[in-house]
Amino acid sequence: MSVGIEHIYAYAPQHALPLPALAEARGVPAEKLTQGLGVRAMAVPLPCEDVVTLAATAGARCLRAAGVDPRTIGMLVVATETGVDHSKPVSIFVHELLGIGPHCRTYEVKHACYGGTAALMTAADWVRANRTKARHALVIAADIARYALGSPGEPTQGAGAVAMLVGPEPRALFLSEESGVHASNVYDFWRPLDRREALVDGKYSIDCYLDALTGAFRAFRDLERPALEEGEGLVDRLARVLYHAPFPKMAAKAHRRLLEVDRGGTTDDLYAASYRDLVAPGLEAVSQVGNTYTASLYFCLASLLEDEGRALSGRRIGLFSYGSGCCAEFFTGVLPAGAATLGATGVRASLAGRRLIDVPTYEQLLHEGEQGGRAPADFTGDFVFAGIRDDRRIYGRAREALAA
Ligand code: CAA
Repeated sequence: MSVGIEHIYAYAPQHALPLPALAEARGVPAEKLTQGLGVRAMAVPLPCEDVVTLAATAGARCLRAAGVDPRTIGMLVVATETGVDHSKPVSIFVHELLGIGPHCRTYEVKHACYGGTAALMTAADWVRANRTKARHALVIAADIARYALGSPGEPTQGAGAVAMLVGPEPRALFLSEESGVHASNVYDFWRPLDRREALVDGKYSIDCYLDALTGAFRAFRDLERPALEEGEGLVDRLARVLYHAPFPKMAAKAHRRLLEVDRGGTTDDLYAASYRDLVAPGLEAVSQVGNTYTASLYFCLASLLEDEGRALSGRRIGLFSYGSGCCAEFFTGVLPAGAATLGATGVRASLAGRRLIDVPTYEQLLHEGEQGGRAPADFTGDFVFAGIRDDRRIYGRAREALAA
């Protein structure tokens, strides 16, 4: 049975810090961040935004764009590593804000940045298993990436959400049933229960990512081996390759490793041409938004569909998902003919209405954190986090909150 992503919609907070300003404040050359890491700006949430409002905004827009009644959703999974409660899942707040009906399985999943893919694969299996009922699953990957001020991880923060409607009539991406997986217990990136900012062994995390890519891609390539001609690379059959992108340069490192594993080696010229054609086009959005953890790979997908859905319809792409700790998966998908008419996926809209902030404003926003509060008059999200009363989180619609 064909199953895949019927619609996809991305949302990022409208406030963003340009990385050259951060570099100046931290006394490092701007090129280290803009070229060395490949990041140009990172989205910064307001106090009235949290992972619930980001997820709900992406989810509401996805359902509207797809023309799907929220009450027909049979499964809602929110993937995040920025949960707001140790017990109550982000998904149940989103369930209410979107007006999804009571006959819906809903929960939150976590495995660092891999959570979005875990949710997507589970939802696809659920659709396959419920083929006679023709119900949709809604998967939302949403995160706010936070590292300590002044730490090496600071320039790799960001925030955003991507919602994906999963069903039997994909207009965005047919998902392959086969994938290559790699898991092992490593301490490369983690966030103990009492901490707001992540801890990371940065250089080691890059090695863990590349090792996991090697394992997952080898496993996938072994499945495809019978179909490959002698000496043919699997990459030669892909029109684009999208990677989890904590910072765009990570995708560049990953692609070099992929070519080495696929072809038993590569040259600088082959790598440069392959990176330019297959990888670079999908990275523009994340270079402007920063790391969105679970949503990062799917921001790349939303951006690719918005920019090249028409040109790539009928073509096969590769996707690599990595979650620290770690679990990784390499899989492929085909853009259906409907990808040509999919239209906006929220990436351009998120970037168009942006307000660039300076370093003191960014530091103030980080210091305040998500206390809840009023949305500014030009707020672009659909929902606001009003605050905590009696240990309970209060959410509302942004327009109603503004009018109050
Ligand atoms: N001009 C141009 N480039 C420069 C430069 C300059 N003046 N100065 C330095 N650079 C280059 C360096 O050569 C280096 O590039 P290469 O890796 O290609 O050699 C790059 O800029 C970064 O420099 P450093 O390695 O010195 O940077 P750093 O010590 O500040 O740390 C980091 C970089 C480890 C990625 C850090 O930002 C970090 O810890 N980030 C968070 C962890 C992370 O994102 N890990 C990724 C894998 S884990 C994962 O994917 C899960 C997840 O989402 C967290």
